[in-house]
Amino acid sequence: MNFENLLLAVKDGVATLTVNRPDKLNALNDQVVSQLHQAAQLLKDDPEVRGVILTGAGPKAFIAGADIADLAKQGVLQGRERSLSGQAMLRAFEAMGKPVLAAVNGYCLGGGCELAMACHIRIASENAKFGQPEVKLGITPGYGGTQRLPRIVGRGNALHLLLTGEQINAQEALRIGLVSKVVPADQLAAEADKLLRTIALNGPLALKLTMEAVDRGLDMTLAEGLALEADAFGLVAATDDMKEGLTAFLEKRPAKFQGK
Ligand code: COA
Repeated sequence: MNFENLLLAVKDGVATLTVNRPDKLNALNDQVVSQLHQAAQLLKDDPEVRGVILTGAGPKAFIAGADIADLAKQGVLQGRERSLSGQAMLRAFEAMGKPVLAAVNGYCLGGGCELAMACHIRIASENAKFGQPEVKLGITPGYGGTQRLPRIVGRGNALHLLLTGEQINAQEALRIGLVSKVVPADQLAAEADKLLRTIALNGPLALKLTMEAVDRGLDMTLAEGLALEADAFGLVAATDDMKEGLTAFLEKRPAKFQGK
């Protein structure tokens, strides 16, 4: 499938999805949001794809936010619809069942930061800048920023970013746990690829169930979350992947998982 504002390349099971509107710092207009949602569904359904790297075209930006020109025209109902469709697109990546890694190059603001937060792992280039500047525009975050940011960096750090609208650099993002790794800009693509390929060597069903347990568990009590984890632990016992993983260890060879 061809997407006007997205580039999609799949190599040996790893898909790289690039938001390609560099002249507008990859801002998310309605068309990009809709195309990203379609791409997420496509990647979920493609059995060849073991994981996804999400990034932005050009050296300056991952994504500089929702398209402000679109927002300037919206009314009440349209604002609500835009928020819901953006949230659904983000959720399609978050609940894909395959690891999605955000490789953040440059500005990662507003909806861009929200999309990165829906990814399972975020790594950043040294020149990355993060922020939720919505309040500076007199608006609230609409793609999950008020919900995922406190879950990732804690309530205090989240409110600091959400209420000031200030930008933080990659090192500060690392310090507060918004990203898990910072690398020189010219090594970002290679690092992202290496990390995702390392993850993709692991059992696909174990990865899926682990992500699901973390995702659902965050909204549960500890007791409920532990019960969910025990169910997942039992469920993997029925898979060929578990037999292969344990046998490969005992036979001192690398496991070859089939996702079955
Ligand atoms: N929506 C729409 N267009 C955007 C955009 C956004 N979120 N962010 C950047 N652009 C456009 C600019 O309007 C400009 O377009 P033009 O060349 O047609 O005028 C182009 O991208 C380049 O941006 P520019 O502002 O000239 O780059 P800069 O290096 O001077 O500044 C930023 C970079 C990121 C600081 C600045 O673009 C910015 O503040 N963007 C908005 C960030 C934001 O508030 N995001 C949250 C939206 S809810």
